[in-house]
Amino acid sequence: MMMNAALYDAALWPIEKLFLQKLRQRLVSGVRGRVLEIGVGTGANLPYYSPEIELTGIDPDEGFLARARRRAQALGRSVTLRAACAEELPFPDHSFDTVTATLVFCTVADPLQALREVHRVLVPGGEFKLLEHVRVRHALGAAMQDLLTPLWRRIANNCHLNRDTLSLVQANGFRIESVREHLRGLVIEVGARTGRKEE
Ligand SMILES: C[S@@+](CC[C@H](N)C(=O)[O-])C[C@H]1O[C@@H](n2cnc3c(N)ncnc32)[C@H](O)[C@@H]1O
Repeated sequence: MMMNAALYDAALWPIEKLFLQKLRQRLVSGVRGRVLEIGVGTGANLPYYSPEIELTGIDPDEGFLARARRRAQALGRSVTLRAACAEELPFPDHSFDTVTATLVFCTVADPLQALREVHRVLVPGGEFKLLEHVRVRHALGAAMQDLLTPLWRRIANNCHLNRDTLSLVQANGFRIESVREHLRGLVIEVGARTGRKEE
């Protein structure tokens, strides 16, 4: 089953109010410069970016992008929105100071290629900020995630409940600067950077 944009927003609404909005705000409100949001979806983070940044968002789903466009318009927010995949970003090397992604790396088909692309488009020392649900560390919880993932992927557009995104980021060219855990490690906020030129 493919979840459409309106259904996605409706399904997430209670979680947004209870939990996610606060985390979104903290993750993106401080970012500066040229910012790329990967998997921008329906634009749930748009209200929280500073009006001063130069914001670009990509997503492969035109339905989600259309909703993001309407949201940007309603907010009076200037943002360039393009149809693209994280695995093949249509931007030159070192085009962005910051890349953000929220609830996206659970879903991308090839997370390693996506991380290579994030690294490529960031300036040296550029910032990568993520909010993701991930594989939990306790064995029973992780086993449940393994069990549920095949079904969940079919219901929720390839979303993997059991992806260890933090380890992937750490092992693929990024220095982890901060990690905040929520719900016993089920949800994490990560601040990371690419290595600087001189390193
Ligand atoms: C769970 S939604 C999250 C949307 C939004 N980031 C949010 O926080 O509400 C996952 C998003 O990732 C997008 N997506 C899926 N595969 C992708 C890929 N390969 N590259 C970039 N975005 C992708 C989907 O279209 C969808 O908008």
